[in-house]
Amino acid sequence: MKNSVITRITGTGSCLPEQIVTNEDLSKVVDTSDEWISSRTGIRERHLAKDETTASMAAEAGMRAMQDAGIGAEEVDLLIVGTITGDYVTPSTSCEVQEILGAVNAVAFDINAACAGFMFALHTAHAYLQSGIYKTALVLGAETLSKIMDWKDRSTCVLFGDGAGAAVVRAFEKGKAEDKAAGGILAFEQGSDGRKGKVLSCLGRRNNNPLIENPFIPSYVSMNGQEVYKFAVNTVPASIQKVLELAGLETGDIKYFVLHQANIRILQAVAKRLKADMEKFPVSLDHCGNISAASVPILLDEMNRKGMLEKGDKIVMSGFGGGLTWASAVLEW
Ligand code: UT7
Repeated sequence: MKNSVITRITGTGSCLPEQIVTNEDLSKVVDTSDEWISSRTGIRERHLAKDETTASMAAEAGMRAMQDAGIGAEEVDLLIVGTITGDYVTPSTSCEVQEILGAVNAVAFDINAACAGFMFALHTAHAYLQSGIYKTALVLGAETLSKIMDWKDRSTCVLFGDGAGAAVVRAFEKGKAEDKAAGGILAFEQGSDGRKGKVLSCLGRRNNNPLIENPFIPSYVSMNGQEVYKFAVNTVPASIQKVLELAGLETGDIKYFVLHQANIRILQAVAKRLKADMEKFPVSLDHCGNISAASVPILLDEMNRKGMLEKGDKIVMSGFGGGLTWASAVLEW
């Protein structure tokens, strides 16, 4: 079965919470300013959840992706959510989404790879589809990061937002007359470095049994921004070069680099190292902030809805972040 299958994205969707919070709004909560946030990061506003949950946003994004792909929920046989902010420890966000959507024939599970979560989920779906085990996957990235922020820590809380993005990924048999049986996902590369996990972390629930003396203290995201910055500007260009090599392509062949949206300066540094024009790096962080696993699929959906993607376009997608984790893919639209 291997190599006789093409896997391609046939639909995208996204969902952002209704509430928009500007840099100016945040300057009333912590000691910061629009000038500092926008000049250091490129972020101007973000959507923060009120009533929305990780699963409700994921389900909405998933429904829009299925509509775009023209499929029904019962056709989905694999449902994977990349998230670090599920509503429950169990059930998984993917099982919640399965229930909301009525994706009764799907096997559903979550992946924790922080800001690379959607890309790890996409690679997992790609491998399952390539092997012939499943035919139709709904792949999502969804986060309610606002609930794990320390809203007194200006060095982190101004950076993040909430939302969800989704893609339908389907398997097509190579060589069939169908026009979708060409192109698709051409190459993948991913990696992890657990030795540097502490540079971006959020402690989980601690042991709270009655025999333990220390009380449970809730923990929030803590980050060594400069270390993460250095990791991103070194690892991402190398990962992209590697995936381009695997696909037998060069930077100049790529129409868009759809990168995780953490900081405009990271995008600029990656563009410079790849010797690529910044116009090839679409941006959503200005109005979304950093939405971890959701940022790549949200950006992809925005591009798709704006008609920026044409059949045959070659694009690179890349996610990177906590773990540390990173993953890049080349695909032909
Ligand atoms: O999704 C992947 C995870 N995240 C990332 O990729 C983030 C990568 N890192 C970054 O984007 C940048 O390192 C940050 C945007 C987080 C920080 O930018 P920076 O240029 O590295 O600033 P810094 O941490 O060196 O802080 C500079 C100054 C400090 O003040 P002093 O010590 O120079 O007086 C901070 O206290 O800016 C201060 N500062 C702020 N001032 C106003 C930090 N946060 C704020 C703030 N408003 N929100």
